[in-house]
Amino acid sequence: MTSPADRPAVQAAAPRVAVLGGGIVGLASAWALARAGCRVEVFDDDPGGGASFAAAGMIAPTSEAAFGQEHLLAAGLASARLWPDFARDLEHCTGASVALQSTGTLLVASDHDDAAVVQRHTMLLDRLGLASQRLGTRAARRLEPALSPRLCAGVLLRDEHSVDPRRVVRLLLAALGSLGVQVRPTRARPLLAAARCVGVVTEPGPGRPVERVEADAVVVASGWSARDVVLPGLDLRRAVRPLKGQILRLRGEPGLLTRTVRATVHGDEVYLVPRPDGEVVVGATSEDVGVDTRVTAGGVHELLRSAVAVVPEVAELELVEATARLRPATVDNLPLVGATGTPGLLVAVGHGRDGILLTPLTAQVMTAAVLDAPAPRHAESLDPQRFAAERSPM
Ligand code: GLY
Repeated sequence: MTSPADRPAVQAAAPRVAVLGGGIVGLASAWALARAGCRVEVFDDDPGGGASFAAAGMIAPTSEAAFGQEHLLAAGLASARLWPDFARDLEHCTGASVALQSTGTLLVASDHDDAAVVQRHTMLLDRLGLASQRLGTRAARRLEPALSPRLCAGVLLRDEHSVDPRRVVRLLLAALGSLGVQVRPTRARPLLAAARCVGVVTEPGPGRPVERVEADAVVVASGWSARDVVLPGLDLRRAVRPLKGQILRLRGEPGLLTRTVRATVHGDEVYLVPRPDGEVVVGATSEDVGVDTRVTAGGVHELLRSAVAVVPEVAELELVEATARLRPATVDNLPLVGATGTPGLLVAVGHGRDGILLTPLTAQVMTAAVLDAPAPRHAESLDPQRFAAERSPM
């Protein structure tokens, strides 16, 4: 647990920072800022209840790599390398285990067309100089005996991790509490005066009047709903859109799988992320359908059909939860992290499919931006000002 000696000395002149949004990105940024000596408050009426609640927690830059997304890959690789230290620091601060699993990812395919997809991905990794190990089906099944014998390709990506985002959110909240950071159960919006951001205005609620809170810096980290925050000079409505994901949580005896399995099944993508306690997370749909968080029969059917084709025993697991949430996607698939051009106003939004992966890097970039310190590598590609109202990145 954090001891008084571990706590940063908060100076009276330390910047006051308001973080709007208590998902994993907002909380980790708040934690990094508080550890850097800022006086931080977080505003969220349901901390950890948005995309972080659904996320499977893959820290998987190589399996998510795609043609033409080199900047995202570079940022993802950098952030994946930060994850072990981020987890250790959080463990040191809270005295609880993050349970980071570093057993890698296995890519598999269910037929020859799917195997061609996996092979193309492996060729992309080769071209980018990223390690992958091709396995025959038998070798893949030696690693994961629960895999169906009908699968026809296996590729091991050793350097990938996974984590339970709900646990990380809980630990971040505890870590913030131990640093005296308040998480206020209300939404808020930036307050502008004389062309700069001077604080936030809270939303009124039952028995809760509107409040103005002064801040030297405001970080908008409210996921897909950030597109409704009107910012001078930055077109978040054009940049950010909701991308629906449905995801399942199943439960059985621990050990059915020991690593993340990602499969292409007759053209559909599915992943199975095992947790040490026997939970298996099966995800996820990717639906460009606007603001819709309904769990649908078709979504659940598609995920279960694919998951059972990959690991037949999935059919015997208890179906514990079906969840739908909205990822904050962007039109160029890169998040917006940094200053906005309005003094005092910063954003950390648009993490799409990679919010958990990109959390430690985002927290570093955000801290450097607030404190006007040198930006970490890769920060440039995340610069929000590519969406300045008068410019277009696409
Ligand atoms: N990162 C996996 C997903 O968004 O479904």
